[in-house]
Amino acid sequence: MSVDFSERWAWAEVHTGIIQHNVAIIAQRVAPAQIWAVVKANGYGHGAVPVAQAALAAGATGLCVAIVDEGVALRRAGITAPILLLSEQPAELAEFIVGYGLTPTVATTRGVAVIAQAAAKAERTVAVHIKVDTGMHRVGASPNEAINLASYIQSFDSLEIEGLYTHFAVADEPSHPANEKQLAAFNEVVAKLAERGVNPSIIHAANSAAALANPDARFNMVRLGIAMYGLRPGPGVADLCEGLIPALSLKGRVSAVRLVKAGEAVSYGLRRPLATESLIATVPIGYADGVPRALGTTNVQVLINGVPRTIAGTITMDQLMLDCGNDFDVTVGDEVVFIGRQGEHVVTADAWADAIGTIGYEIVCGIGARVFRRYQ
Ligand SMILES: Cc1ncc(COP(=O)(O)O)c(C=O)c1O
Repeated sequence: MSVDFSERWAWAEVHTGIIQHNVAIIAQRVAPAQIWAVVKANGYGHGAVPVAQAALAAGATGLCVAIVDEGVALRRAGITAPILLLSEQPAELAEFIVGYGLTPTVATTRGVAVIAQAAAKAERTVAVHIKVDTGMHRVGASPNEAINLASYIQSFDSLEIEGLYTHFAVADEPSHPANEKQLAAFNEVVAKLAERGVNPSIIHAANSAAALANPDARFNMVRLGIAMYGLRPGPGVADLCEGLIPALSLKGRVSAVRLVKAGEAVSYGLRRPLATESLIATVPIGYADGVPRALGTTNVQVLINGVPRTIAGTITMDQLMLDCGNDFDVTVGDEVVFIGRQGEHVVTADAWADAIGTIGYEIVCGIGARVFRRYQ
């Protein structure tokens, strides 16, 4: 017996044409810098392979991922563009990095040695990118270490320094003084390496926010993540995101309806008694699918038949209930828009994020594996 799992009553729609539109708009703004599309975390929940294909079709020239599995999946899908691993990886995976032609980030002598050994064993020259920690203090060589690291890399015939990069901690607050400080520290490393004859062909620092906000941070490549998906990096750069369109909608169908009397309450905890008799619609999507449980105590509304509806009680693992008040027309099978447009109304991942004190990134990355992605 074959089952079409796409028929589940909860799904995400991803418009790859919108991804292309967003990449094209940003490509124009950041030119002549090239774009490497950040497709880690399953393309921020949108699907890494279709997003990568769309971004490359729209002019991106490379891709970035967080872990080796993600790079291997892209290669297995036939993608031949450069794929940068954004931090050092476990030594055990070096031979896969080399074998699958992924571009490693290096930040320590140990990390360099491991890749050099795997490259020599495979009789290949591997291009590496040096990551410099200029103030974020997550990963990367310190500016001084980076200079020494470059000499160390040059001692291996099997390695080539293709890239040099850093990452901003507060790019989404363009006027924060740390941005200028980090940029100055990075420029100093670029200059010191140039004095020593090391001129990597790809210099990069900017994520979406920095790419949009600061031309000096673009160098000759930007690592474009959230803006490509049509979400804003943060409120401080919202005005720079004009023209970008969210590429993902999250939808479901009403699976059950019932009339619940005034004074009764809905779901675990029976926390919010109804003021009037209400039609309660159940939708088979829950926190295991990425609808945050915390959303159940906010006044975020989702859409049925073009009308905003409030979440009626605690969001459960696989289902949630919506309060449709005295709209007795809502019925089983009606489409529910959790994120996206229905009629005149739009619900955004950023609105969910704002309501529960997080960021749009976490909302879209959190959409669960069992939510079927439909591509348009
Ligand atoms: C090192 C690095 N570069 C670029 C990005 C892309 O950032 P954004 O999605 O804000 O564009 C990320 C994402 O977290 C990252 O970790």
